[in-house]
Amino acid sequence: MKNAKDILEQNKKGWNTVSHHFNGKDALPSYGPFAQTEDELQLFENIKDKKVLEIGYGSGHSLRYMASKGANELWGVDFSQSQKKAAEELLTGLGPHLFCAPMEKEIGLPKQYFDYVYSIYAIGWTIDLSTTFNLIYSYLKVGGTFIFSWDHPLYAHLHNENGKIYLKESYQDEGIRVFENFKGENVSMTIHRRKMATYINELIKAGFQIDSVIESDVSTCYKDEEEEISDRYYSLYKAKNFPATMIIKATKSVEEKWDHAR
Ligand SMILES: C[S@@+](CC[C@H](N)C(=O)[O-])C[C@H]1O[C@@H](n2cnc3c(N)ncnc32)[C@H](O)[C@@H]1O
Repeated sequence: MKNAKDILEQNKKGWNTVSHHFNGKDALPSYGPFAQTEDELQLFENIKDKKVLEIGYGSGHSLRYMASKGANELWGVDFSQSQKKAAEELLTGLGPHLFCAPMEKEIGLPKQYFDYVYSIYAIGWTIDLSTTFNLIYSYLKVGGTFIFSWDHPLYAHLHNENGKIYLKESYQDEGIRVFENFKGENVSMTIHRRKMATYINELIKAGFQIDSVIESDVSTCYKDEEEEISDRYYSLYKAKNFPATMIIKATKSVEEKWDHAR
């Protein structure tokens, strides 16, 4: 099995190759495939004049959404050079602070600075959830909010065959999964499978107060859509029967826990 450093390197190479498949996908106001949107959920209370940091900014579309809502400072971390290039182009003229680095790494981002840290379909890629959440906690002001979306941890184990949805592999097994030929490209990518409780407990350990856990229904725009039975990983049929996306909102309500923990 590869060590953590090798996995990070391999995933980074992979994202540099597959990033064009994700241009503008999984970006705010959407929280994920078929998921309820920010317009429906209103998790960000007031973006105007706020300092925001996106973890895994991808093509930059969510940061552009933040700018359109009046955010004062746009910051982001993503380890893929090709995503950085795409985001820089998209955000031309908006003065973003974009960093090309792993989310698990201390890179000297300002502490106790941000009103919002958020992440749309990127957190689950981390190879070290605990360090990632501790770092995010340290970036937030007291009273600041962290919002992220990712595959619902159980959804990732569900498979669909001719309309029958079943558990293909154990939800208990939190090990890594290797995906060969990711998005049809000649790259392999590694993702950690984690339980819902692992995400919640790691947030609590980092010091967060959990405000909301959402097992997303499909967005209202899909409610009346005829659901074609499909065996694809993301399908409206599957998402109408089981939440494809989880969204968690958490607050930093007390002073640094990060420093005490070290
Ligand atoms: C599905 S995309 C996110 C799309 C983004 N929300 C948007 O608005 O375009 C996931 C992103 O996470 C980034 N990523 C994956 N693992 C990472 C890591 N360990 N550290 C930093 N970025 C990572 C990838 O480069 C990719 O851009």
